[in-house]
Amino acid sequence: MAVFDTVEQAAAEGVKLFLEAARDALAARGRFSVALSGGSSPVPLFRHLAEQAPRAGIDWGAVHIFWADERCVPPDHAESNFRLADELLLSKLPARGPVIHRIAGELFPEEAASCYEADLSRSFAEDEIPVFDMILLGIGSDGHTASLFPGMDLDRCSGRKAVAVYVEKLHSHRVTLTEPVLSRARHLVFLVTGVAKAAIVAEILGNRKGLCYPASRVASSSAAVTWLLDAAAAGGIGHP
Ligand code: 6PG
Repeated sequence: MAVFDTVEQAAAEGVKLFLEAARDALAARGRFSVALSGGSSPVPLFRHLAEQAPRAGIDWGAVHIFWADERCVPPDHAESNFRLADELLLSKLPARGPVIHRIAGELFPEEAASCYEADLSRSFAEDEIPVFDMILLGIGSDGHTASLFPGMDLDRCSGRKAVAVYVEKLHSHRVTLTEPVLSRARHLVFLVTGVAKAAIVAEILGNRKGLCYPASRVASSSAAVTWLLDAAAAGGIGHP
């Protein structure tokens, strides 16, 4: 866990970890597979990464961009996680840009999930759980991550790579990677900022050890997880 004075500093560390993981993966496997999240937390990271990308020395054509989840909306919709990343980052990357593995939010949810699973099977070894080099996650103040929300039966979908879910309180159909895929990433990075997350962060990372939340289940079963927090989000826990 790393705590930074500001959101910008936490995001800058996220960029540093992203580029380090990319260099390592490209050197080791000739390819870097990363899954992004939506929401507001990744915005400064996308912006910083777009600025640094041209001089990062990365072969972006060997980078495969996926999503941890997507809202079931068209790619040009204001709620689209693809649109967010495309506007702030993907459209600004050097030529021979990354290979984009978009979740087809414009399809019916179950069809979008099946198409994404087929893409994952093609992109990773067919029957295994996809092992991403990095997955960038946020958490909600209710302890959700990606689109795995409290109250969902995560075990029911553990045999799938991606599933369609309906988030009642948001009146939102979504497609999400499942817990086994999220926790198998070579490097899981939670970027959590803002005072609204202080209580959930204190439960998950503080002495109250809230292991009942999807975010804590994913984190606790991951072999390599980094929490990047700003001081506001870390306000409820003692800093080492
Ligand atoms: C999404 C995200 C979601 C997000 C959290 C935190 O599609 O909305 O994948 O899991 O990470 O809801 O959202 P904020 O970063 O906006 O607080």
